[in-house]
Amino acid sequence: MVQINSIKDLDYEKIGVDEEWNDCVGNELTMHTIHAYPAKFPAFIAWKAFDYAEKEGVQIEKVSDIFCGCGTVALEAKMRGYSFWGCDINPVATLIAKTKSNSYDCDAIIYFYNRILEYIKKCELPFDLYQNANSRLKYWYYEISYCNLYKLRQAIITEVPDGKYREAFECIFSSILKACSKWLTKSIKPQVDPDKKEIDVILQFDRQINKFIRALDEMENNDTQMVINCTNFLSEEKLPETDLIITSPPYVTSYEYADLHQLSSLWLGYTDDYRELRKGSIGSVYNSDNFTLDTQQLNDTGKKVVEKLGEIGMPSSKIKSVARYYIDMQNAVKRCQNMLRDNGMVFFVVGDTEYKGVKIPNSKHLIEALMDDGFRDIKIGKRTISKRICIPYRDEKGKFSKDKSKRKVYHEEFIISGRL
Ligand SMILES: C[S@@+](CC[C@H](N)C(=O)[O-])C[C@H]1O[C@@H](n2cnc3c(N)ncnc32)[C@H](O)[C@@H]1O
Repeated sequence: MVQINSIKDLDYEKIGVDEEWNDCVGNELTMHTIHAYPAKFPAFIAWKAFDYAEKEGVQIEKVSDIFCGCGTVALEAKMRGYSFWGCDINPVATLIAKTKSNSYDCDAIIYFYNRILEYIKKCELPFDLYQNANSRLKYWYYEISYCNLYKLRQAIITEVPDGKYREAFECIFSSILKACSKWLTKSIKPQVDPDKKEIDVILQFDRQINKFIRALDEMENNDTQMVINCTNFLSEEKLPETDLIITSPPYVTSYEYADLHQLSSLWLGYTDDYRELRKGSIGSVYNSDNFTLDTQQLNDTGKKVVEKLGEIGMPSSKIKSVARYYIDMQNAVKRCQNMLRDNGMVFFVVGDTEYKGVKIPNSKHLIEALMDDGFRDIKIGKRTISKRICIPYRDEKGKFSKDKSKRKVYHEEFIISGRL
């Protein structure tokens, strides 16, 4: 990690890849793999951050992740016996995070699973079920898969009482929705594969249940306090005091998390229109519709980027979303400062992006925000995230491509730490 004393000191040429943050020693828990999640970071980042903070003298009782996603930090905090507070604006994220960090009795899982299978055997569906289905779900599913998923969903609601066991079954149900749909398997972004074959819904569910049971076997149950809220961090009124924040913010204008989670949001009844869940999500291009650009709120790095993007002809709607992202991130840093106890530490994992050859230095913007809010001992390290060096671009649909006119994929990201 390289120490940065002033923003002028920040010289990216001097920041080599830090093997410390690159190597994974040991395997991740199976629990981390029960549900795919876009931009999930590897669990060892959390282990290394815990070790680093302890070595630097932080007394860790409570760990927080303000953009907790699928709960990578939450689960690792629990394994180390730290209490945890985290939030995410998306209900699919918090469903996964809660399931991963709750404690379950395997016998109860097997008991409810058998009841679900019994229900499915007896369940009869109305002949016009598919005809009357949500149009977006019809777009994604063949009739047989839709009907089997519907039965499974009904079985879970009927046979598993409301509470953490229902959540676990909903999470496992959610984990098979993409595989059972027409969604192109290798694409993170929503894209139909017209050649995709139907797969057996119940078999897929059975595999995931077995994986979950294997995952539970590896867990040590302890009664650490775990709080995971589905909320917008920027407007959350009750922020806890915390010793260590480890988090990875969304990238600017890259993923629309609400769109990526649409199958789960629709099936689990979080919304009838998945686009509603884009609201408040940092980095969403739809977030800046009612936003008036006031560059005065931006720090110097933010101002310069916005100016530069104007000069190279980025459409004003996109410029607004970059500016909105930066202002949201500045507010997020301020809120972290309010949450942290004296001597506490933050870790942000963040990547830079690029537009038409112009670098969008999210890491620099974040470092400046930390400095403005009184963080000290700010350090930056670089890690590699992708080994696919030979295909370093992505097309409009998110597929890897060798075409240089496409969007560049970043193979590196930064770990930025700071203390109060
Ligand atoms: C890069 S992901 C975090 C991934 C996480 N580290 C993991 O391992 O799963 C960023 C997360 O920020 C969430 N997010 C976006 N805007 C938010 C907001 N205003 N408040 C809370 N969470 C938000 C997104 O839903 C997404 O899950």
